[in-house]
Amino acid sequence: MILVTGGAGFIGANFVLDWLAAANEPVVNLDALTYAGNMENLASVQGDGRHVFVHGDICDRALIDRLLVEQRPRAIVHFAAESHVDRSIHGPAAFVRTNVEGTFTLLEAARAYWGALDGEARAAFRFLHVSTDEVYGSLGPQDPPFAETKAFEPNSPYSASKAASDHLVRAWHHTYGLPVLTTNCSNNYGPYQFPEKLIPLVIANALAGKPLPIYGDGMNVRDWLYVGDHCAAIREVLARGRLGETYNVGGWNEMPNIDIVRTICALLDELRPDPAGPHERLITYVQDRPGHDRRYAIDARKIERELGWRPAETFASGIRKTVAWYLANQDWVGHVQSGAYREWIDANYAARGARP
Ligand code: NAD
Ligand code: TYD
Repeated sequence: MILVTGGAGFIGANFVLDWLAAANEPVVNLDALTYAGNMENLASVQGDGRHVFVHGDICDRALIDRLLVEQRPRAIVHFAAESHVDRSIHGPAAFVRTNVEGTFTLLEAARAYWGALDGEARAAFRFLHVSTDEVYGSLGPQDPPFAETKAFEPNSPYSASKAASDHLVRAWHHTYGLPVLTTNCSNNYGPYQFPEKLIPLVIANALAGKPLPIYGDGMNVRDWLYVGDHCAAIREVLARGRLGETYNVGGWNEMPNIDIVRTICALLDELRPDPAGPHERLITYVQDRPGHDRRYAIDARKIERELGWRPAETFASGIRKTVAWYLANQDWVGHVQSGAYREWIDANYAARGARP
């Protein structure tokens, strides 16, 4: 079996669902169920004996030691993190705790467990660390996309804490020989993404007739990857990645934010027309994010060359599926838009001159 951390969040839950559909191997899923963790994401595997959910914190060393000894996973796939840049600006402490101390705790527990394995089990063990392209910093318009050799230049508390965790993972390999793999992926979108990130926020607000907040001039560029493609890339790296290596994962799909929002508006005009007019009328420019990285772009040639992975979805196909999923799952959206969600929306947008 494998141990997944953060498997009740957006990407982790997609990974668990894909894993159980693709491989007949059980998953132990350790998640603290912060605001971003949601058992509803895992509703379709409730009662499936191959999925064992453990409610707990990756900073809890005793719990992780016990889990490893009891469950004896052949791999750890580490998603658990605080993941939202805007939240990291409002409150960085949780990011240092979970992303840095949590990863450290997991590495130490993995080292002790792996050190006590022998023979085949020891040779086969893997620690796969899921990270982000944001560790590389911001690109100018003419700069080449991020290769794995690009120096880290993180600019937000989120990206700095993820960069720190990447460094720890690297060091545990070089110093202790822990069999690690790291993936650095671009912005994901797809089912089960919490509606505080750009794409699900825009879909939810557009359907509710609320403003669609665009930070700054809307020309910040991200590379976008459909979450199912990210899950497939992780499975490949886990199966065949070279130990100690990092693999950049991206969609070959750089787009300015305003184009993302316009694409969603056009899809909603087609799939759920609003009698009040085209959804674009709701676009509202608001005060920018402090330190807002201008451009991210991923050079994903290494993972293609070594492991044969390429994204299966185009942005056009992935965003259509995503909008359709949100339209079909309005109950899920309604449930996560709890009191705590409203508080965050007020905290983040009131000071920007917009209250969606
Ligand atoms: P998310 O915020 O949706 O989910 C994070 C999950 O981790 C939640 O279920 C939460 O309950 C859990 N968690 C948080 N703190 C924990 C702790 N201390 N102990 C145990 N569980 C804890 O995040 P996501 O978007 O699914 O991202 C998953 C991983 O992928 C993160 O490591 C993130 O840095 C990385 N990543 C995300 C993106 C993206 O676009 N979302 C892109 C590249 C990489
Ligand atoms: P986000 O989904 O928060 O991901 P990240 O900051 O990790 O890339 O934001 C994606 C882009 O969209 C980013 O450039 C910030 C911008 N953005 C807005 O313009 N308005 C919003 O309300 C949000 C949440 C993000």
